[in-house]
Amino acid sequence: MYHSKIAGLGYYVPENIVTNDDLSKIMDTNDEWIQERTGIQERRHILPGTETTTTMGVKAARVAIERSGVALQDIDFVIFATLSPDYYFPGPGVLVQRDLGLNTIGALDIRNQCSGFVYAVSIADQYIKTGMYKNILVIGSELQSTGLDMTDRGRGVSVIFGDGAGAAVMTREEDVTKGILSTHLHSEGQHAEELYVKAPGMGGRWITDILNENDPDDESYFPYMNGQFVFKNAVSRFAEVINEGLEANNLQVSDINMLIPHQANLRIAQFIQKKFRLEDDQVFNNIQKYGNTTAASIPIALTEAWEQGKIKSGDLVVLAAFGSGFTWGSVIIRW
Ligand code: ACO
Repeated sequence: MYHSKIAGLGYYVPENIVTNDDLSKIMDTNDEWIQERTGIQERRHILPGTETTTTMGVKAARVAIERSGVALQDIDFVIFATLSPDYYFPGPGVLVQRDLGLNTIGALDIRNQCSGFVYAVSIADQYIKTGMYKNILVIGSELQSTGLDMTDRGRGVSVIFGDGAGAAVMTREEDVTKGILSTHLHSEGQHAEELYVKAPGMGGRWITDILNENDPDDESYFPYMNGQFVFKNAVSRFAEVINEGLEANNLQVSDINMLIPHQANLRIAQFIQKKFRLEDDQVFNNIQKYGNTTAASIPIALTEAWEQGKIKSGDLVVLAAFGSGFTWGSVIIRW
């Protein structure tokens, strides 16, 4: 019996910074509104034609692999979480296998939006625990800026999201008091349409009909979000799933050294911090700089926290996510 652990972490964000003031020049918004509601000061958007979800994922993966000490050819599985794949199909997992020149190993794509990285870590953990694979590359990457409605109509959603990628190499941990202690996954599809993009999922329609409609007022290609409903559900589900993970391991809130919440919105993270009475140094946030990068947000935040020396060997690290689906989950790690 063994555990899995995170052996190497990396992230990549495009260089192009888009501030709230930049957005206010193209739509009816302002820095004060955005910061007050979301905590976001700036985000990264690719410059046209420079990156895809896969190319950013590959850059993050190279850093994670280098740091893990695992040789490229010893990676034996790829899991890629995104809501913004380069193609409708195939998913980006196989593109990573190609672009990194990996062996003809398996590649799996995860479509769980903001919870995607937590789902991916959970799957990698099971494969490693059963002995099926030893060194799994887990990526969360999103190119969201090209799919946002950057007009006044889309301002309630488009100011929140940014581009970027994070990656982890997960390997075997022989010491079963360490590594991933447990993972907890949930969904409630009843609320699928509270936060979603209708197209290009066919929804019973032929793609040619969708294209032939060619309607400039068609909002179905843009994300829709019922913001206040998402907020309400997020704060309760985050709390539940963190508690579930702690209870499963006979741990208390006071045992948490570092909570890395999905960077949905700074107000949500602050609500959770207050509810659990955690100190500032027990919660890591970087949404101020990157906005909400969906499946990439946890691996980017985890990497930055680790790079800044905020995660040390023996620490109890908790990852928690909530997002479209609704889906939510947590990962309890003894580092
Ligand atoms: N700039 C200026 N004004 C805006 C903007 C903007 N970017 N967007 C909306 N407004 C206006 C609205 O038009 C509205 O004006 P009105 O009162 O004249 O009609 C007013 O601001 C309030 O709009 P609401 O949508 O009610 O704003 P709310 O206070 O709910 O804040 C927000 C919106 C920030 C989205 C909030 O609902 C929220 O935090 N929801 C959580 C959702 C979230 O964090 N999602 C992240 C992605 S999902 C995930 O990762 C889990």
